Amino acid sequence: MDKPDYQSLIDLLAQGVQPYIGQGKVADYIPALADVDARQFAMALVTTDGQCYSTGDEQARFTIQSVSKAMTLTMALQRYGETLWQRVGKEPSGTAFNSLTQLEFEQGIPRNPFINAGALVTCDALYSRLSAPVHSMLETFRAQAGNPKIGVDVKVAASEYEHRHRNAAMAHLMKSFGNFHNNVDDVLKAYFSYCAIELNIVELAKAYSYLSNQGYCQFCQRQILSPRQTKQLNSLLFTSGLYDAAGDFAYRVGMPGKSGVSGAIIAVVPGRFTVAVWSPGLDSVGNSVAGIEALAALSDKLEFNAF
Ligand code: DON
Repeated sequence: MDKPDYQSLIDLLAQGVQPYIGQGKVADYIPALADVDARQFAMALVTTDGQCYSTGDEQARFTIQSVSKAMTLTMALQRYGETLWQRVGKEPSGTAFNSLTQLEFEQGIPRNPFINAGALVTCDALYSRLSAPVHSMLETFRAQAGNPKIGVDVKVAASEYEHRHRNAAMAHLMKSFGNFHNNVDDVLKAYFSYCAIELNIVELAKAYSYLSNQGYCQFCQRQILSPRQTKQLNSLLFTSGLYDAAGDFAYRVGMPGKSGVSGAIIAVVPGRFTVAVWSPGLDSVGNSVAGIEALAALSDKLEFNAF
């Protein structure tokens, strides 16, 4: 099959989603995120042969929020392999990303690594193995996205820490069940720094290019995960990457994906490309309205997806 003209395709998608840009609400439970202008949109696509295409507000920098959870899991799998699954499950949660209820019933073992509780445990595991957890995460993004200047938006990280009560409650509950090993506030600070890593759209797509390329990052020329681990991670993204909207996203888009409350989403077509989209207006579940529309339109236009 001929390679599609990706640049024309994403330019067309950016035009098509214009009516959706600015719809929804920016996340305001983190006050520093409430300042962001919702009328922005950017999309980038990185193919497995290393070509990058982008459109819209390509220069805009935004925090990646929960999209970081896929990298936290990647780094934890690199260090723990299968033993990580003793501390976190692989099942969709069917609940909001910051829900506490299942944790009590299920003895402090979060359903999956992409809800907040699961990411906190994964972060705790990573914290035990890294001497400089924030520096290591930043170095990972810098190498894989090809920009040594990538950093943390400290204002957003501080705002998240100030309003940490729900995440802190989850971590303390897990500690009461013996499933949290380090100091809660220390791990929370690392977790919030991961969420507040600031990238532009092309950097975001490049950072996760290994997910569509059997675990190999062509930008830093390193095998990030084995092909098998990459397949497994994509499977989990497919079932749980968009929280309680994972089923709807699977139906409309048909790709493994991960969203964040900044309005960023990544999606993967194994063997073809990683795509990143960003638009800050969110639906009631916390996913980008224009971002989901753009990915659904992309899926409709292509003759292939994960299936
Ligand atoms: O911990 C939080 O609530 C945020 N830093 C991240 C949440 C998030 O992005 C969930 N995604 N939809």
